[in-house]
Formats: sequence, structure tokens, C-alpha cells
Amino acid sequence: MDTAPPGTAVPELDPAHVARWQDSGGELIDLLTAAHRLGGVSGFRLGGRMTVLVTAPEAVHHVLARHPDRYVKRSHRLKAVLGDGMIAASGERWRTQRRVMQAQFTGPGVRRYDGLMRAAVAEVADRWADSARTGQPRDLGADMRHFSLDVIWRSMTGRPLDETTHREFLAAGRAVAALPAFAPATGTGPPDITAEVARIDAVAARAIAAARDWPGPSLLHVLLAAERELPEYTERLVRDELVTLLAAGYETTATTLSWLFLLLHRNPGARDRVLAHPPGSAGRTAAIRAVVDETLRLYPAAWIMPRYAAEDDVLAGYRIEADTPVLTSPYLTHRDEAAWPEPERFRPDRFAEGAPRPAAGAYYPFGIGPRTCLGIQFGLREMVLLLETLLPAFEVVPHTDPQPTFGVTVRPDGPITATVTAAPTT
Ligand code: HEM
Repeated sequence: MDTAPPGTAVPELDPAHVARWQDSGGELIDLLTAAHRLGGVSGFRLGGRMTVLVTAPEAVHHVLARHPDRYVKRSHRLKAVLGDGMIAASGERWRTQRRVMQAQFTGPGVRRYDGLMRAAVAEVADRWADSARTGQPRDLGADMRHFSLDVIWRSMTGRPLDETTHREFLAAGRAVAALPAFAPATGTGPPDITAEVARIDAVAARAIAAARDWPGPSLLHVLLAAERELPEYTERLVRDELVTLLAAGYETTATTLSWLFLLLHRNPGARDRVLAHPPGSAGRTAAIRAVVDETLRLYPAAWIMPRYAAEDDVLAGYRIEADTPVLTSPYLTHRDEAAWPEPERFRPDRFAEGAPRPAAGAYYPFGIGPRTCLGIQFGLREMVLLLETLLPAFEVVPHTDPQPTFGVTVRPDGPITATVTAAPTT
């Protein structure tokens, strides 16, 4: 329903559906889970103000895809880091910025980076082969973070990730990842991350210097060309966009891969079902994709997407006042029994070829609507290329069983120490 028929009273959110958490100090995920149990559109008070949680697929679709002009992004929680990069931008500026990068991120566009991605994959495989020989355990989370940063660094600069960049970025990344995913106006400002921003600025300056020395093509060359041709592309905006791509494409992909290895271990037989398809076949690639899609259902890295009502609206029969914070959460929608039978079970067959497609708004690990992830094809490609190499070659046994922790991304709450062994050749 878009507008109430004339003369129809539109209910406020039912008071019974308003969980009063008033700065409970509890974990945001506990608060959201409690609110979600009350209904697919529910409300709670946070930081003294009404916040609406939207998890029912139809209502999610209404907010993110059908009416992105009514539910807008506000100053991004990572604004101090991302500046005016695409994630934090809005209006005409956002449209220009998206247009500049779009062609690099289509299916054929990302194939240009296949060679660079494969080089990053080969490095992981070499390191794992060494560990398989020596029996030295690996830190899976660290390996996946190194891989995803290496991929994006190579596709910007043409060079493998160097140790200094890696160290600096990780140090800054840890502070940024610990920021809350949604910070209501509680009076206390966000933590001071000036030192981390300085580290990231140094990384960005190094990337730009490296890209200027290299003929390309690369993601950064597209930005440097825009700097020459478009007045709005100042040196500062090139830095902001570069940092946005690093930030958006790094932790998301790395945590997804970490969860994927944990889920394969927790679900014996899942890896064998992928490997039952012949190497190099379309069937194997599709089976790997299904495992990635199901991992993203259970652990959608960007687990919460905040918006604000730009105007009064009627959502699922409730009145939403202008200025109300409206949260959508793929983590909660993806675990809702009404949308996903046996939601807690890892079942990649939900995404097998020929399986029914999820209803609109029921599955959105990359968001939906105009602000959908720019890097979908890029992220999927790097994950599939890595898994096509690692899954047949290695068996992975984690020694730990981390639980989710909910910061900017939903990530494992500790290191994933794991033994990797060479898989028997058949
Ligand atoms: C598993 C991997 C990834 C996941 C789960 C993911 C998820 C998301 C989500 C949910 C959004 C939309 C947020 C919102 O609507 O509020 C988003 C936006 C974005 N993502 Fe990703 N992402 C991934 C990988 C990547 C990669 C690899 C890149 C780039 C190399 C990237 C670049 C971006 C950018 C630039 C935006 C902002 C788009 C805009 O505002 O127009 N992402 N991502």
C-alpha cells in the first residue's frame, strides 16, 4: 500500500509492537531480534526516539527498492573515513559517482581483472601448500582478509599487496570494524578515529602514487581519468572514492569467505557435493555460487542497512513520520521462517539452478534498489575464483568455532585457527 485510501485512518505503530529499550545498553542485535519477533514492521525506542525495524520482505522491498526517494541515506556512520565516497554520497553527486565506476563493475567489466585476481588466488594456494607440507596451522580469517585486500589493491595499482600497506590497513581496519553498525543520536559522539584516518590517508596516497607509475588499466585509472575530465573529481574525491572501494570491498568479502569455510566444516558433505561436479564445469561453478549465496543468506556481511524517512509515508499500513530512522536487516529477514523454511540450516540447494527464486525483498545480502552494491559481480568473481582453486586442493579443519559478533559487519568473534591438508587426488 502506498497511500491510505481517502478517509481511512492509518494506525500508528501498535504500542504493543513498540519495544521500549530506552538505551538499554544491550547489544543492538538482541534489541532488533526482540523487535523482529513482534512483527515484520516493528518499532522500538533508541536514544530516546522511535526507530522502525523493517524485516518483512514486501516492506523491505517498499523501503529499499520501490521508494528509495522516501527512505534515504543520511550521513554515513563511516563518514569520517569515507568522506564523500559513493557509499556516503547522495543526490546528483552520487549519480555521477556511480556512473563513473559502473562500467568497471558489470559482469564483463570485472573479467578485465581476472588475471590480477588469479594471481592473488595463486598466492593463497602457495601459502596453503606450504602449510599443508609443514603442518603449521593457519589463521583463516587473516588469510581471507589478506586475500580480499590483495585483490582490490592489485585491481587498483597493478601490484601485489606490500607488507607496509597491509599492516597499516589492518590496524586502521580493526578500529573501523569495531564501530557500531547503527549509532543513534545518544549525545555521545562517535569514537575518535583521527589516527586511523591518517593511516588510511597514507595508504591512499601510496595507491595513487603506484597507479600513476603503471599504465593500467585499473580501478584507480578510471578515477584518475575522472579527475582530469570532470570538475567535481578533486584530488580529495579521488581519495574518498578509493578508500570507499577499499573499505566496501575488503571486510565484506573476507568475512563471507571466513563464514563459508566454517559452514563447510560444520556441514559435512557440502564440499563433496560441490566436488562431485567435474573440474572446470559450469555445474561446479554453479554449485560454488550456491554455497556462496547460502553463506550470504546466513551471514550477510552488511547485516543492517539504515535509512531515514525523508517524508511521511504509510508502510505496511502504519504511519511513518518524516525523519524516523528506518532499519532493514537482511540478517533477520534471511532467518525468518516465513520467508525461509528451516532458516538455521545451511542448505545451498536453495540456490541450485532451477530452485524457486526468493520473493522480492526476501534475500538482499547486497541490498536492493538503486543503492544496491556496486561490487556484486566483482566480489562474487573473486570468491568463486578462489574457491575453484582451494576447495578441490585442500581440506580445511578449523580448531575453533567462533560465534557472530555484530559491528559494521557480522563477523566471527575470534581468530579461526585451522589445519589445511592437501586433498587426496582422485
Ligand atoms: C560479499 C561481498 C559484499 C557484500 C555482502 C556487499 C554488500 C553491500 C551492501 C549491502 C551494500 C548496500 C548498502 C545499503 O544499501 O545501505 C553495498 C554497497 C556498496 N558496495 Fe558492496 N558488498 C560486497 C562487496 C563489494 C565489493 C567487492 C565492492 C567493490 C570492489 C563493493 C562496493 C560497494 C559500493 C561502492 C557500494 C555503494 C553503492 C552505492 O551507494 O551506490 N562491495 N555493498
